[in-house]
Amino acid sequence: MKKQMDIHKLRADLLGWYDREGRMLPWRIRPEDRARGVTADPYKVWLSEIMLQQTTIAHGAPYWMRIVDEFPTVTDLADASRDHILAMWAGLGYYARARNLHKCAQIVRDAYGGRFPESEAGLLQLPGIGPYTAATMAAICFDEPTNIVDGNVERVISRMFRVEAPLPKGKSAIRKYAATLVTDDRPGDYGQALMDLGANVCTPKSPHCGMCPWSWACQANRAGVETDYPRRIKKHTLPIRYGAVFILRCGDKVLLERRPDKGLLGGMTGFPGTEWGEVPEAPLRDAPVKAEWTKEPAPVRHVFTHFKLRLDVYVGEIETTSGIDGIWAESSGVGTYALPTVMRKCLKQI
Ligand code: ADE
Repeated sequence: MKKQMDIHKLRADLLGWYDREGRMLPWRIRPEDRARGVTADPYKVWLSEIMLQQTTIAHGAPYWMRIVDEFPTVTDLADASRDHILAMWAGLGYYARARNLHKCAQIVRDAYGGRFPESEAGLLQLPGIGPYTAATMAAICFDEPTNIVDGNVERVISRMFRVEAPLPKGKSAIRKYAATLVTDDRPGDYGQALMDLGANVCTPKSPHCGMCPWSWACQANRAGVETDYPRRIKKHTLPIRYGAVFILRCGDKVLLERRPDKGLLGGMTGFPGTEWGEVPEAPLRDAPVKAEWTKEPAPVRHVFTHFKLRLDVYVGEIETTSGIDGIWAESSGVGTYALPTVMRKCLKQI
């Protein structure tokens, strides 16, 4: 019984805080509007949730605006070419998300008449929609009382309950604690409130416990050990890989190539280059043509999820494009291709 009362108070405190302090986001329906019956557009919420999984709101929001402007409905997105979507996604990273986005939009168009399924279980059937996205969309769009747990929520819950099991294994314990707080009172607002609390108040390094509506119940706060949670298994340092790219010019054209569909940066565009290996190797035998190659003094560095990359950048010039396969792009129009950040860095280097 006591637990029930605590949960009631916890939820009331968090929702009250959200009503006053919740963020204004372009895809979000504010609580006062939700209370009037305005509902969120599943397409716009889906797009935002896929985007924000590995991207900050500050970085992702302008992309979200441009994509919604260009493709106002899920059917518009489904009808677009994949290259168009990849080009608009360029700079957001994790390009499998954009490929799955297109696949998912086509299935929603073809098998669901252009409407997303209206339940967590239904949403889970779609490609690229995992447990987090399904739970979040179902709560925000259809007020289903789902258990939303993202990285921000993990931090809040692990501190509230002092969950000792380290991440990533500790996820299931955290999920269980989070589930005890889920009810069918305003599920969409509650989930968004919890994520906002983690993002703005219960921050990783210097949490603002003085402003937290849950500090009275937080076990880590009571012991003054907030930043010790969530516990984590120490990460290994990332290995380094080495490679080279060749920026070949002919007049005002530059040579690009489309990367294979499978694998890292699949389907994206880039400069020709070597394989990325564990040791630096003499790269020029992989150059697209024999030319006077000039090596840029500083390499490009980029961090992927599982390794760090060091790329040497070679620049060359030829007289004619004939006989050289690839995409000869106008130098001034390179930015319109699906060029991932690492390739943009190479371009900046010269
Ligand atoms: N981060 C990712 N999705 C979010 C959402 N719907 N509300 C708040 N923060 C988020």
